[in-house]
Amino acid sequence: MKKELPKIVFATNNPHKLEEARALAEGKIRILSLGDIDCHDEIPETADTLEGNALQKARWIKARYGYDCFADDTGLMVDALDGAPGVYSARFAGPECNPTANLHLLLEKMEGERNRSARFATVVALVIGEKEYLFKGEVEGTIATEPHGKGGFGYDPIFIPVESGVAFAEMTPEEKNAISHRGRAMRKFIDFLIKQDI
Ligand code: IMP
Repeated sequence: MKKELPKIVFATNNPHKLEEARALAEGKIRILSLGDIDCHDEIPETADTLEGNALQKARWIKARYGYDCFADDTGLMVDALDGAPGVYSARFAGPECNPTANLHLLLEKMEGERNRSARFATVVALVIGEKEYLFKGEVEGTIATEPHGKGGFGYDPIFIPVESGVAFAEMTPEEKNAISHRGRAMRKFIDFLIKQDI
């Protein structure tokens, strides 16, 4: 009989992240969404590190719903802005802001700046049984002077990874996943999880 895939909940309300994770886990792990477990919570993210936020989200689901769970937190660190927006990437243009406002504020702050180097970092936190694990992925790149492409989400139209020379938003989902911060962290996480007996 065919063995069932291990199942795990992804604590995210971001459909783009869910899609990227499911593409990476295809045939290896079955990723359940928050909708699949009937969770409609606004999960808090109040830590001041990526690790802290990722753990906070995964622990929230484990504590309230009992499922083994993972969550990610991502930041864009821009050298010319002393590492901003960093852990505050989602709220860069203010608490009620949207991804387009964040992107335009970043372009504005980078106007005329010659040092455009930046990196994306993702931390995936896994809470499984009584144990917790962290997995990290990073990608180096530069901030474009204007948006490019229609794919991806968030800051993808203005982030050009060094490996490719075009913005994440100009790539196919497979091309982005192959080199992205989240792709790198998720591959470490998936390799670890398939070796566990769950
Ligand atoms: P969070 O991990 O959901 O807190 O994301 C932080 C911020 O980074 C949000 O504004 C997201 O839109 C943005 N972000 C997260 N992952 C990516 C990505 O893969 N590409 C571009 N922007 C991202």
